[in-house]
Amino acid sequence: MSEAQASVASRPQVKPSSLSRTPWSLLDLYRRLDRDPLGTLTDVAREAGDIVEFHAGPIRVLLLSGPDHIADVLVKQQRLFVKPRGPLVAARVLGKGLLTTEGPVWLRSRRMIQPAFHRQTVARMDSAIVAMTERHLARWRDGEVRDLTEDMSALAFAIAADNLFGADVDRVHPDLLKNLTRAMRHAHHRTKAILRWPGWLPTPNNRAFLLAVRQLDAAVTDMIGQRSSKDPPRHDVLATLMAARDAEGKPLTTQELRDHTHTLLLAGHETTATTLAWMWQLLGSHPDAHRQLEQELDGVLAGAPPTAADVDPQRLPYLNAVIAETLRLYPPVWVMARRAAAPVELGTHTYPAGTWVVMSPWVVHRDARFHPNPTAFQPERWLDAGHRHALPLSYFPFGAGPRLCIGRPFALTEMALVAAILLQRFRFTLAAQRPAEVEPLITLRPKHAIRATVSAR
Ligand code: HEM
Repeated sequence: MSEAQASVASRPQVKPSSLSRTPWSLLDLYRRLDRDPLGTLTDVAREAGDIVEFHAGPIRVLLLSGPDHIADVLVKQQRLFVKPRGPLVAARVLGKGLLTTEGPVWLRSRRMIQPAFHRQTVARMDSAIVAMTERHLARWRDGEVRDLTEDMSALAFAIAADNLFGADVDRVHPDLLKNLTRAMRHAHHRTKAILRWPGWLPTPNNRAFLLAVRQLDAAVTDMIGQRSSKDPPRHDVLATLMAARDAEGKPLTTQELRDHTHTLLLAGHETTATTLAWMWQLLGSHPDAHRQLEQELDGVLAGAPPTAADVDPQRLPYLNAVIAETLRLYPPVWVMARRAAAPVELGTHTYPAGTWVVMSPWVVHRDARFHPNPTAFQPERWLDAGHRHALPLSYFPFGAGPRLCIGRPFALTEMALVAAILLQRFRFTLAAQRPAEVEPLITLRPKHAIRATVSAR
């Protein structure tokens, strides 16, 4: 038997099950999904299996929760799937950026943008990330109570704007973060709402949304405009985008630059900000892990500012394990979707073109088959190479395959640098030791602000 045949034979032959294996009707399911999407997806997967099929009117939807099937969709058979276009209202903000395009348009952009996110390119951003973090921490006062959710959001946004586009948002565009957050929150609520006023009606929400998008456009156009006259030239993502040429030697148009800037600013701050916020929540409620991390940082860095080379898993394994464990428990992108563009085989069945596929890192990351004691915060599990390499798609906070997160190296480097500096400078005690509650919006946010007393070390 060849290796390939053996691997097929050893795959669990999971039969698709339908919603009838669960105690809920379709209407129940929708109500529950609306109230508690994470709990509902988890319950459906645990009750009915790794492939669960349901029908929303004429649309066939599969919830996939087995690593093998997820690998089929994201990697092995990825050519047979497309990424759904996303809600129109999100497209209004993100235009034809990487998140919202498909096929040749996506591929052309991905090829033009990819060099800006190579590991070596990102490593050169370390001193700028450290400097921006130091600047933000200089505002912290010993003994004060801080809202770490808001702090991480402002910091991650400033780091993204500075490193990606050379913009000092604190000084030049103080409203940018507020507007971007407001625009995407509105996009989320419009997507979820079953009954909604048309987007052109001048309701207060629609007006606020349009205003936010206009302000954002103006700020981004300004960033791009200023760049042409920048002296000396910078070597950041915007510079790479402006210098990039496609296979026919054509540069990106102004509209394309704007769309990519919006997309990268949004995808590049919200995800890292929420992960860092969750990390403080987890470390704050696990003093042993907090202490162990502090000891590792003190031992390796001896008080010096960290570099990209320092935050490598070989040098700071526990720091990287804490980040991996945070992303396991609170994956910012908690659900991904694809639509079959042709008939596809999953498990023992063939599904027609048009079938929707939904995969949730939240559900899979909390499955005891792949991560023993799944709800516990145990960074040590990632120090075990056996666990790290066990089943690749049982852990996919950054997705997988050709549409793997382009910002992964940037995100991992940034989060490790920020965490290292913060823990070198401050200890913190959570203001409330209540269990963390999640709010699954576009990313998985903490429902309540994470507040902590910070004490200088
Ligand atoms: C903790 C941090 C982050 C997480 C967990 C994360 C997660 C993800 C995931 C799961 C996807 C794939 C979605 C899918 O396949 O449907 C994705 C795509 C993407 N991410 Fe990230 N991301 C993070 C940080 C970043 C950063 C820092 C940037 C930019 C600076 C970024 C930019 C993007 C873009 C542009 C895409 C679309 C890529 C494509 O389709 O070609 N992300 N991200």
